[in-house]
Formats: sequence, structure tokens, C-alpha cells
Amino acid sequence: MRSYMCSAILSFLLFCLWNVEAKLAPDFIHPCNHTGWSECLVKSTQEAIPDFVKGMPNLGVPSLDPFVIEKLAIPLNGLKVTFYEGKVTGFRKCIVDNVISELEKRHFVLQFHCNLTIKGRYDAVGRILLFPINGEGDAKIKLTNLRMTVDINTKYYKDKKGANHFGLKNYKYSFDYGDRVSFDLQNLFKESKQLSDTVLAFLNDNWRMVAEEFGKPIVDYAVDLAIRTIEKFFSAVPYEELVNIPIPQ
Ligand SMILES: *[C@@H]1O[C@H](CO)[C@@H](O)[C@H](O)[C@H]1NC(C)=O
Ligand SMILES: *[C@@H]1O[C@H](CO)[C@@H](O)[C@H](O)[C@H]1NC(C)=O
Repeated sequence: MRSYMCSAILSFLLFCLWNVEAKLAPDFIHPCNHTGWSECLVKSTQEAIPDFVKGMPNLGVPSLDPFVIEKLAIPLNGLKVTFYEGKVTGFRKCIVDNVISELEKRHFVLQFHCNLTIKGRYDAVGRILLFPINGEGDAKIKLTNLRMTVDINTKYYKDKKGANHFGLKNYKYSFDYGDRVSFDLQNLFKESKQLSDTVLAFLNDNWRMVAEEFGKPIVDYAVDLAIRTIEKFFSAVPYEELVNIPIPQ
């Protein structure tokens, strides 16, 4: 009897400990019960974004809003642009358009659109379109309704403690610059304010062409960072806390 009590108390304590230790998923994660039900996935992804992008230092997950681009060189034909001290904001207000989760096929698709602002400093030497540029100064770029689809092949793995996790096998993405990209680049020509203003107006009038010419490295950088962040989150939080569906065999 006594040993039964002891072991009951022991199990109870272990159970409590287990429960305290077990839950790693933050409260803003609301797992869905069926992945076939896309509305739930869209809703729970949308609900998780504002908190997720703040970062979770306790899980080693960095902030995505804002996120910092210390330095990014954009090598282009005939033009060398470098961004410094960049700060990207806006991810917390992204709108989720669709989520497809195929657990068996190890496939996950996320579609969303966002307004993003990138602020920092730049220097540029070379040519933009026809203009010889030699500038440096403050830079602000605003994207309105940038649309993106991220397509991820996932995998499942066990960590050292035997807990299951989502892993990322590979990913690809496509995007559209959306409704408008506006550029505010100070001092494109160190010598002439008037020429700077004229060329800046030209860049804004032709924003899509300009964005397509030099936007991709910035978007690549941002997507890669976001994916690495999600990967860190997946490696910190077990599968079972993210999805209420047994892991496919
Ligand atoms: C999933 O099922 C549980 C238990 O039946 C329920 O409490 C929870 O609200 C459901 N979650 C969703 C997102 O429907
Ligand atoms: C982005 O800004 C535009 C114009 O201000 C607004 O109409 C749109 O709803 C915003 N989009 C998002 C995803 O917040």
C-alpha cells in the first residue's frame, strides 16, 4: 500500500514536471485538428504572426519585425549598391491568403501579402538605367502589397530526447512587387540636388522596372532569414505541439 502511494505520488510529480517541461509552444500557437481544413490553418497562422515575428529569445528565435540588415551588397551590372544599417518593418501586419499543409506529402505552402518598409543607408556607384550614379545617404523603400508564395518541402526528425520535429528539406518562393514600390534615396548625385531629385522621380515613375532590377537580392535575403527563423522555431518546439494530428509514418 505504502509503496503504491509512493509510486502514485512519484508519478504525479513526474507528470507535473513533464507538463511543466513539456510545453514549449507559445500560447499564440493554436494547433488545428484537421489539416484538410484550410480555414483553420489560415486563421491560426494569421493569429500567430504578430507574436511570432517579435521573436522568442527563450527559444532562440530572433525577431523578424523589425529585422536588421547589417550590410547587404547588391552586385548589379555596372552598378554597385550597398545597404547599411537596414531595418525592415511590417511583417507583423502581413495578411495570410492561403495555407496548404500536406503532412503525408511533407509539403507546406504559405501565401501572404504585406506592406513593408526598409529604412537604412546606402551607397551606390555606377549606373542606374542610363544615369551615372555616385551617391550615398539615407534610404527608405516602401512596398505596398508585396505578394508572396513560399513552397516548402518538409521532413520529420527526432531530436536527442526523442521528440519529433518538423524540418525543412528545401524551399522555393515566388513573389510579385504588388501595387507599388516607392524609393526615397537621398543624394543619388553628391554634386547636384536637382539631378538627384530628377532621377529619384524617374526611379519612382518606373518603380516596377527598378524593383525588378535590384530588388531580388533584398527579397532573397529576407525570405532566407524568415525561413531560417521558422526552422529555429521548428527545432525548438516539438511537432506534437504544433499539429493535433499524429506524425505520418
Ligand atoms: C481541436 O479539438 C480540441 C478537442 O476536441 C478542441 O478543444 C479545440 O478547440 C480544437 N481546435 C480547433 C482549432 O478547432
Ligand atoms: C497596405 O497599404 C495599402 C494602402 O495604404 C492598404 O490599402 C492595404 O490594405 C495594406 N495592405 C496590408 C497587407 O496591410
